[in-house]
Amino acid sequence: MKHKVSGQFQSFTVEGHIGILLNMAILKIARMGHPVLRQMAEPITEPSAPRIQTLVSNMYETMVDAEGTGLAAPQVHVPLRMVMFFVDSETAVQGNNKTEDYVTDNVPLTVLINPEIEPLTDEMELGWEGCLSVPGLMGKVPRYTKIRYRGAAPDGTPIVRTAEGFHARVVQHECDHLDGFLYPQRMTDLSLLVFREEMRHGVPGEQTEPNHNGTVDD
Ligand code: NI
Repeated sequence: MKHKVSGQFQSFTVEGHIGILLNMAILKIARMGHPVLRQMAEPITEPSAPRIQTLVSNMYETMVDAEGTGLAAPQVHVPLRMVMFFVDSETAVQGNNKTEDYVTDNVPLTVLINPEIEPLTDEMELGWEGCLSVPGLMGKVPRYTKIRYRGAAPDGTPIVRTAEGFHARVVQHECDHLDGFLYPQRMTDLSLLVFREEMRHGVPGEQTEPNHNGTVDD
């Protein structure tokens, strides 16, 4: 096993990325059942503090490594109110059975500190979600179809956006982590909680072909 580790290290140094290697930290992701995922996260009083900047950087590395769409600080055992996410339009469309309502613009990587969500409609819609803290599973979860969200970027700049469809879903999923909720707790029909690998046998409640892509996975 040792030779594999040194091999990876070598590939970094050969490409001249030693600086990135030294600064990068892929954090351990808490799984369902860990108390940090059940508690209310604390507001961040000083977004520009170096430790917050380091957390942003490490969470980003962790999210990319895990191929997540988003990540919330409690998922890396840090009970602070910060989330990050990005949405590409292709994922958004695939994730919601290609209904036109869900066609959404790309959402660039967004870091939200102390986020707040305001639903702009009573309408909710079911959509598939996964979560890095609930590995292997997927569930169909009701979410508001249109929201406004606010928060601060890491440089303190206020962010206010309205979001619909998949974009709105991702933000609601991530912000739930800050209040101690995982998506299964939002589900109304647990027959739609399944192992991802079993989806190859067909999607529960749907006639469509199984689709392994395009879920919220964070
Ligand atoms: Ni999650």
